[in-house]
Amino acid sequence: MALKIGDQINLTIQDLAFGGEGVGRIRVARDAEPATSEGNAPAPAGGEIPSPDTFVVFVPFVITGETVVAEITEVKKNFARAKLLRVVTPAPARVVPECKFFGVCGGCQYQHIAYETQLQMKQKQIADLFERVGKISRAVVAPVLPCPVAYGYRNRIMIRSQWNGPAKKLVIGFIQTNNKFVEDIDECKIAEPALNEQIKQVRANPPPKGGIKVVLRVQPENWAVPPDSFFQNNFFLLPKLVETVKHFLQAGGARHLIDLYCGVGFFGIEAAGVVDSFVGVEYDQLAIAAARQNAASRKINNGEFVAAQVEDKLPELLQKFSAEQTAVILDPPRKGCWPETLELLRQTRPAQVIYVSCHPATMARDLNILCGDGVYELARVQPLDMFPQTQHVECVADLRRRN
Ligand SMILES: C[S@@+](CC[C@H](N)C(=O)[O-])C[C@H]1O[C@@H](n2cnc3c(N)ncnc32)[C@H](O)[C@@H]1O
Repeated sequence: MALKIGDQINLTIQDLAFGGEGVGRIRVARDAEPATSEGNAPAPAGGEIPSPDTFVVFVPFVITGETVVAEITEVKKNFARAKLLRVVTPAPARVVPECKFFGVCGGCQYQHIAYETQLQMKQKQIADLFERVGKISRAVVAPVLPCPVAYGYRNRIMIRSQWNGPAKKLVIGFIQTNNKFVEDIDECKIAEPALNEQIKQVRANPPPKGGIKVVLRVQPENWAVPPDSFFQNNFFLLPKLVETVKHFLQAGGARHLIDLYCGVGFFGIEAAGVVDSFVGVEYDQLAIAAARQNAASRKINNGEFVAAQVEDKLPELLQKFSAEQTAVILDPPRKGCWPETLELLRQTRPAQVIYVSCHPATMARDLNILCGDGVYELARVQPLDMFPQTQHVECVADLRRRN
């Protein structure tokens, strides 16, 4: 009989795919394969191809090695999705989630997993992904640097309001797991305590209607950051992020730094002392004004900041500095770099590229392009757990030009 929505199955979890869903396989008779539409599934970690008589089932909130009972919620041609009904054999790493909204709120995926195990899992997921998408040796991926606090770390959150018609009520909180509805939330365990105070204030003075987004933020000390500009959202692990970038930069020995997607000047300013000169490029004009202010307040005068699209400004900068003496920091948005930017770097070949990203999938794609035909060599990838309890992770990659 073909697998169908509503079926309850027993599953042994073999792996956790990138994004946090557990991967199990069930046997199906060959003539009973579900004949429904194609769909996009997260690739099982390791890129392993299942045999024809096994069928991949993704289920969230589980841990590798567990046996669970799950209910099928979606059936595609090559895989199915299920919701967790019961854990039959819990993994030793299973812990009680701290948040009462865990499993319903879409913000966290890993609160049921002991923190040490989250770090090991993320390291494996990154190594699997980089190997599969980036054709990168897993040996270059270092263990994940932990966050000193596993909860209460986020310094920026976005609260949404939504009118719940049937309940005739305005709900205020975060998007639920797997749908577009807002879960009514009065506390976020991964947010800094100051933000939880702000959540209370928003709830006490609710937006006039649904469909409103409210950004709550704790301002970093000693950094000017305009309200809509980017700043790293975990202050606790920030010193390690800076240390990692500076360490790679110093090891590369470049004299000039081009800090692309520089926001309020964070990396350029932090690394100003280890280079002769630097230039930051960012298209958010208010962020650039703040970057100039941030440099001036620290009496840093060996750098400049340019308000421009990276794609427009980079050709000129790469002509200005000698490739042998130049390092480039790339810290693009989640979608990664434009192909033209990567191609230009491949053509002009600055001595070092330090790629910082919170989206390992687009990062792996871009690293694969930079390393194609042996133009760059990936010396090291340092993951940092800027986002405990969630599927997200930050990575810093050190690429060196091959001679
Ligand atoms: C992930 S943030 C990094 C900011 C900064 N490096 C930091 O650590 O604070 C990416 C930044 O790139 C900027 N950005 C996105 N696309 C850009 C483009 N095509 N040209 C220039 N800046 C861009 C965004 O405004 C944002 O500030």
